[in-house]
Amino acid sequence: MLEYGILDMMFSRVEPAYTTKDGCRLVWQGTDEDDTDTIILNKKEFESLLEILQKDSTGTIELEDQMSTILVNSDTIQFSLKDHTPLEAQTFEFQKKILEYAQIPHEPQYVYISPKEFYPSVWIRKDDTEKKDVKDNIPKQSLLHTILSTTLQTSDNSDLFRIMSTRRSTRKFNKTKVEDWKIDKILAAADTAPTAGNFQGFEVFYIKNPKTKEALVEAANKQPYVNAPVVLVFCMDPSRIKLNFPQNILEKFSMQDATLAASYSQFAASGVGLSSIWIGMFDEEKIKSILGTNLRPSSILCIGYPDKKRPPKSRRKLKELIRIIE
Ligand SMILES: Cc1cc2nc3c(=O)[nH]c(=O)nc-3n(C[C@H](O)[C@H](O)[C@H](O)COP(=O)(O)O)c2cc1C
Repeated sequence: MLEYGILDMMFSRVEPAYTTKDGCRLVWQGTDEDDTDTIILNKKEFESLLEILQKDSTGTIELEDQMSTILVNSDTIQFSLKDHTPLEAQTFEFQKKILEYAQIPHEPQYVYISPKEFYPSVWIRKDDTEKKDVKDNIPKQSLLHTILSTTLQTSDNSDLFRIMSTRRSTRKFNKTKVEDWKIDKILAAADTAPTAGNFQGFEVFYIKNPKTKEALVEAANKQPYVNAPVVLVFCMDPSRIKLNFPQNILEKFSMQDATLAASYSQFAASGVGLSSIWIGMFDEEKIKSILGTNLRPSSILCIGYPDKKRPPKSRRKLKELIRIIE
């Protein structure tokens, strides 16, 4: 059998590119169900590939980052991707799937990207009317990656272990406005958390409205610091988790998904020099009605610049925490 890429990823299918107007997604499947690698081709790249395959010829296609290429040979197609392990597909099989895909008309799906908005920075438009500022060529994954990898970093050190060992909750925030790029990073961090089956069984409500913040204070046992510069409410969404398990397990998973996402955001906030307070004490029904949702809230993360930077709180001794089973 042919070796498909270093990680034994097997070329699987061609799908519509839901993050670009045209083009397609090429999906490789790994050994596990949720283990996939995907390349998104824009219209031009897809058409060039199609042209070569229709003529049964060979050739090279340069992808938009100008460092990735697709090399079409008569027996295999090699995908050399920037910052990624190489992928391969058998030309015959790949050609068949691409030609089949090209014959079916695919509904364009527009992506709306608004760099000035904090959230969502990118979303798929539901209607089919194109907006002037639609950017077709920016895949969703790369936006997430771009947000997380930008180095606008101003804080001292964003090393993960340093963040862990120096993080301290704050209930007193000063009035300094939190920069948009920091909020983007905090939100993007939530999106990187592991989730059950990778179904991302949670949602984040980013509260900008001052009246809503005040209402949340009331719903959170009148804790005044809930009215913080940045307020995120993490909610569970078990309906997103398409696993064949009893409802109580799906609910447990979504609770864990939402909690992990909030935790990733909390770390990200510390990583960009902000402080936060995790709020777990609130009236769930009141929060649901304030947000106008049926989703159960799991935590509220209140973020801002601390009035005073303080050292981390002490913890029990590590040996008291760990029980070794030998
Ligand atoms: C599940 C959970 C619920 C919490 N709920 C509240 C809360 O409702 N109000 C609050 O002021 N702090 C709350 N906290 C913050 C904790 O009090 C705080 O994290 C803890 O004292 C440890 O301090 P540190 O974060 O500075 O290490 C909560 C934290 C967690 C993890």
